[in-house]
Amino acid sequence: MSDQTTVGAVANSNLAAAGVARIDWAFREMPVLKGIRKRFDETKPLAGLKLAACLHVTTETANLILTLKDGGADVRLCASNPLSTQDDVAAALLHNYGISTWAISGEDTDTYYQHLNAALDFGPHITVDDGADLVAILHSTRKDLLSGLIGGTEETTTGLTRDRALAASGELQYPIIAVNDADTKHFFDNRYGTGQSTLDGVIRATNILIAGKVVVVSGYGWCGKGVAQRATGLGANVVVTEIDPVRALEAVMDGFRVMPIVEAAKLGDLFITVTGNTDVVGESAFEVMKDGAILANSGHFDVEVNVRSLSDMSESIQMLRPFVEEYRLTDGRALIVLAEGRAVNLGAAEGHPASVMDMSFANQALSVEYLVNQHQTLEKQVYSVPRDIDNEIARLKLESMGVSIDYLTAQQEKYLNSWQEGTE
Ligand code: ADE
Repeated sequence: MSDQTTVGAVANSNLAAAGVARIDWAFREMPVLKGIRKRFDETKPLAGLKLAACLHVTTETANLILTLKDGGADVRLCASNPLSTQDDVAAALLHNYGISTWAISGEDTDTYYQHLNAALDFGPHITVDDGADLVAILHSTRKDLLSGLIGGTEETTTGLTRDRALAASGELQYPIIAVNDADTKHFFDNRYGTGQSTLDGVIRATNILIAGKVVVVSGYGWCGKGVAQRATGLGANVVVTEIDPVRALEAVMDGFRVMPIVEAAKLGDLFITVTGNTDVVGESAFEVMKDGAILANSGHFDVEVNVRSLSDMSESIQMLRPFVEEYRLTDGRALIVLAEGRAVNLGAAEGHPASVMDMSFANQALSVEYLVNQHQTLEKQVYSVPRDIDNEIARLKLESMGVSIDYLTAQQEKYLNSWQEGTE
């Protein structure tokens, strides 16, 4: 039952029991976080800590939040995307686990920001962000709360771009741990998580056959690599667009055709953006796309496919089925937008599977603990997750999978630390 101080806003309290069952199901695939939760529960390293989290409200997030709570923290949660909330999970957190939660799937932009502000009202010591919206509010309209902050963590590439811009301007007011940049985060979550969940979102929304389609993937970072790999695995003919010459070269040598978006636009049956940038697929591309082309975004914000400009070019917009809208252009062609151009993997599907979020959220939990222990030694900068945390998470994940590896012998260690030995 919720305690008396629990506050929040969720869509439907009757969904709480279903949420509990799904949260438990996800936890089975999160052995690393499970171990951390047990230790946190026994030792309470976060006792007395007030923590505001702005994350996609999913079954996996629920397990992170419960881990932080068991560690002794007073946690408040709001959604990091208006469309990604799993309403049953939000209800379970609020009503069954006593977590103050503000998250309603489909909330409008005003409500979204009201919820962020509500999660901050208690004056947190630590923020846990996915996209840096809490950091942005704290450095603009809620500066009054900055003095209470000892640190924050950031889950995603887009959020770190914003945090680093803030740090570069000299305005960042508290240290941020770059969870996204841990190897046990982006090698797995960004690549295998985004790869699988993006295709899952497209397929759940449309039920199209991917085999034989030309799939244009914009962005060949870790997320783009994952999407391109999984689309290939399903039989698609993948074209990559990039602005970074090294990544573009990598895509060429991975076997993909690489070309500018205006050329790819003429070929694509399905477009997927994963760049973290704005107006990646815009007017000049819409002008030459095939009738019936499908547009999906799996980057953090809904700016990569320029839906506003598409709307201006259209004479009608029709919802064909959930998460599928047809934009009828004045020249008669139809372009199809999935999940309003918001992250399709979280809007039309359930986000990344628990097994990868296990490592991402183990990094979150251990980074919060690190901030509690080390904040006095940190400057107002963006920091990497300490290497020993990253290695420990990989070790625990391997152990949970029953995989053992070799260790350096004394002779090998000596060899690696010497320079004298060369050709024998
Ligand atoms: N980001 C991507 N997938 C996610 C998930 N399942 N839970 C929380 N955040 C996510």
